Amino acid sequence: MGSSGSGKSTLLNMIGLLDRPTNGQISIDGVNTTSLNDDKISSFRNNKLGFIFQFSNLLTDLSVLENVLLPVQISGNSTNAQKDAIDLLKVVGLETQIHKRANKISGGQAQRVAIARGLINKPSIVLADEPTGNLDSVTSETIVQLMKSMAKKLDQTFIIVTHDRQHFGDVDRIITIKDGKAFEGDQSSQMEVVA
Ligand SMILES: Nc1ncnc2c1ncn2[C@@H]1O[C@H](COP(=O)(O)OP(=O)(O)OP(=O)(O)O)[C@@H](O)[C@H]1O
Ligand SMILES: [Mg+2]
Repeated sequence: MGSSGSGKSTLLNMIGLLDRPTNGQISIDGVNTTSLNDDKISSFRNNKLGFIFQFSNLLTDLSVLENVLLPVQISGNSTNAQKDAIDLLKVVGLETQIHKRANKISGGQAQRVAIARGLINKPSIVLADEPTGNLDSVTSETIVQLMKSMAKKLDQTFIIVTHDRQHFGDVDRIITIKDGKAFEGDQSSQMEVVA
């Protein structure tokens, strides 16, 4: 959490290896990712990380199913991909929309497609930037519950940037970015995060 411009997206992009820090290093599961070359960065990103952006960024000419399968085409891990994609689309409640074009579904449905797409490569870490940002309250609730149950089911870590504290309920950890520093807990916390 943190106010607008505090650097939340910047931090997620660096953890997600979409951006490089000018100072310091990013370690994920003991790997210092700042020392990886471009090829290693791509394979690390494709195999370990999943992304859910604020706006679902679906390719509108493709079907729902094809959108979910995009990360598979990039990573090349295609074993069982079609079945996994359909299973995920069932979990997010879109089994009847699988062959619809992505421009024919609602914003909430598109966000659920984006979640399925973010999970298709079974990433151990899912980075979500304002995943409920443009959704109504009821849909936000559904999306949050979905992410929580996926986290449990697949033993995944979700790192979520949100202004929408009330929809998230109990979470394992809250970090607030303030004046360029990370603090443990919500806005009132004074305890700086060490690691
Ligand atoms: N630690 C930092 N070092 C250098 N630049 C930073 C740092 N943190 C943030 N910035 C810069 O500040 C700007 C805003 O950061 P960012 O987009 O990450 O904010 P945000 O917290 O995601 O805001 P919002 O809630 O509006 O999405 C960017 O231009 C980014 O480059
Ligand atoms: Mg942001």
